[in-house]
Amino acid sequence: MILAANLKCNHTRASFERYCEILNANLGDEILSKHEILVFPPSVALNLGNHKFIQGAQNFYPCQNGSFTGEIGKEMLGEFDISCVLIGHSERREILGESDELIARKFEFAKSQGWKIVFCIGENEAVYKEGKTKDFLASQLEKIDLDYQNLVIAYEPIWAIGTGNTATSAIIDEILSFLRTKTKAPLLYGGSVNLKNIAEISQIPSCDGVLVGTASWEAENFINLIKEAK
Ligand code: PGA
Repeated sequence: MILAANLKCNHTRASFERYCEILNANLGDEILSKHEILVFPPSVALNLGNHKFIQGAQNFYPCQNGSFTGEIGKEMLGEFDISCVLIGHSERREILGESDELIARKFEFAKSQGWKIVFCIGENEAVYKEGKTKDFLASQLEKIDLDYQNLVIAYEPIWAIGTGNTATSAIIDEILSFLRTKTKAPLLYGGSVNLKNIAEISQIPSCDGVLVGTASWEAENFINLIKEAK
C-alpha cells in the first residue's frame, strides 16, 4: 500500500526533524517491504536528511524560479531532492482559489520533470447529496494525463476531510472502482482515515492506499496507523 501523510500547515523545521527521526527509527524492513510511505511537510520544514520514506512537497509553482512572490519553484525543491508533489488538494482549490487551469499547468510541469504526482480529487457535500459524484470526479480528471506512469490519484470527498465522517467502505469501493475504469494509476482514499478505520479501509480491494491528514500529524500516531494497515 501507499500510506501518505499530509501534514498541512503543521510542524516547524525543528518539530519535523523530530518527526523524521521517529519515522526513520520505526520504519523497518517488514513495513517497507509491504508499503511505500510518503510524507508531505510544510515547505519551510523540508528536511535534508536521509529518510526511509519519500519526502514530498505540498505545493509548488510550475517554474524553475522567477518573479512569483511567495511561491516555490523547482530550484528550491531540488535542494531537498523533492521529486514527489501533491496537486489539486481541496484546501488549495477551495481556500487558496487554485483553478483547474493552474492545476493543469502544475500537472504538466511536474510530469515534464518526471515527478511522482499525488493528484487529489473529491466532491463537496452538495454534489454528493445530488448523486453527481462520478460526473464531478470525471470532470476533475479531464485536463490531466491519466496514463502518466508516475501518477497516483487520491479520492478525498471534501465532506470527509477533517470531519471524522469517513466515507463508508461501500462508497470508497464504488468510487475507486469507477476511477479504475479510467486509469491504471494507484488509487488512494483520503478523508478522516484514522487508527480505528485503517484496517477496514486498507482491505477494500480497489484501494491501493490512503492519504492521511489529522491522524498523521503526530509521528507516533502515523506509525501506529501504518502498522494497522493490511
Ligand atoms: P484528514 O485530511 O485525514 O484530516 O481528513 C485528509 C486530507 O486532507 O488529505
